[in-house]
Amino acid sequence: MRPGAVQHDTSFESLPAYQEILMDRRIGPALGFTNPYYRLHEARAGVTTTIDGRELLNFASYDYLALNGHPEVIAAHREAADRYGTSVSASRITAGERLVHRDLEAALAELYQADDGALFVSGHATAASIIETILGPKDLLIHDSLIHNCVVVGAKGARCQRKSFRHNDLDDLESYLTLTRHLFDRVLIVSEGLFSMDGDGPDLFRLVEIKERFQAWLMMDEAHALGVIGATGKGIAEHAGLDPQRVDIWFGTLSKALVGCGGYVCGCQALIDILKARAPGLVYSVGMPAPVAAASLKALEIMRREPQRVAVLQANGAHFAAGARARGLDIGTSWGFGVTPVILGTDIRTFRLAQDLEQHGVYVFPVIAPGVPQGSSRVRFFLSAAHDTAQIDAALDAVVTLLDRQ
Ligand SMILES: Cc1ncc(COP(=O)(O)O)c(C=O)c1O
Repeated sequence: MRPGAVQHDTSFESLPAYQEILMDRRIGPALGFTNPYYRLHEARAGVTTTIDGRELLNFASYDYLALNGHPEVIAAHREAADRYGTSVSASRITAGERLVHRDLEAALAELYQADDGALFVSGHATAASIIETILGPKDLLIHDSLIHNCVVVGAKGARCQRKSFRHNDLDDLESYLTLTRHLFDRVLIVSEGLFSMDGDGPDLFRLVEIKERFQAWLMMDEAHALGVIGATGKGIAEHAGLDPQRVDIWFGTLSKALVGCGGYVCGCQALIDILKARAPGLVYSVGMPAPVAAASLKALEIMRREPQRVAVLQANGAHFAAGARARGLDIGTSWGFGVTPVILGTDIRTFRLAQDLEQHGVYVFPVIAPGVPQGSSRVRFFLSAAHDTAQIDAALDAVVTLLDRQ
């Protein structure tokens, strides 16, 4: 060290994030909470899961159509592994593709009546990559205030302007665009088909009308909408009765209803061509393992073949939402499909309820800020086509009993 030189702390322990983590680790046990993060599940998490040797009724996994572990999905996965191995061992642009990549992209594109589709190895990286590829410093990204983190990260990479409008408040979106549209070259509006924390969605017709009038693009995140809403699970366009071609970018994940891992984008040929040539998460990242693509392709095929799965999921979602409301629980603006929160407000009530429910044999996950706005902490229930109404009623009764005791 030179005499008089400024000293720099190179320890990771000095980072503010680490100090916050240490604080949480002290506070949780002091309040009697066990750490709810990174729990070890000892078997497949379906309608039930096993933690610490105990079987629990599970409402914390987004296996909406109950296809995780389905024999046909497992068989498709196994066949692809036998044929192609477990990795494609480089990015598809260099190491080439496997037929199953193309088949899955074509099946997804057909679902959205789009020209083409592209797969990414991560859902999060899909959105981030799309945004950083198509937007730049002269552009605006405007999104619903409850949008997923992957969109915010994309805006950072694009170095575009970023603004949010109040949740599902399209008057707010319209006012902002009226005032500012002329300041930007390109504008991308982003919303979700079904919001992952609140279980509601936007007025898609009005969103499309606004994006057309203001000459913007619209990207819809279908992560929690595919397989969940619309009469046959085709998502928000089917739910709203809108021609999917009126939306510029359909983006979603394979990790929910399609029981795989990774993300997809569907749209016009030029968009997909650009992404396949430039999107960092595609060009500079390994291709999706063929077994994963095969599993999701099979799950999509089953979803199309067995629309009753979607119908049962929707009936379960409606039963949960109606039952929660009837018991006086605050479920916010949930539409009552695959995800519905029970909003408790404070972190302490939320952690306590999640922990008490687990002791009672029901596993749900507590969600606090920054995952949701401060003051709206909640336990979030994911429904599946494999739950039955007795299980849903038992979980709701447990919530009411345990909240009464708090
Ligand atoms: C709304 C939404 N979009 C994107 C993602 C990212 O998807 P993945 O987890 O498949 O990377 C998630 C993940 O939970 C999500 O909830």
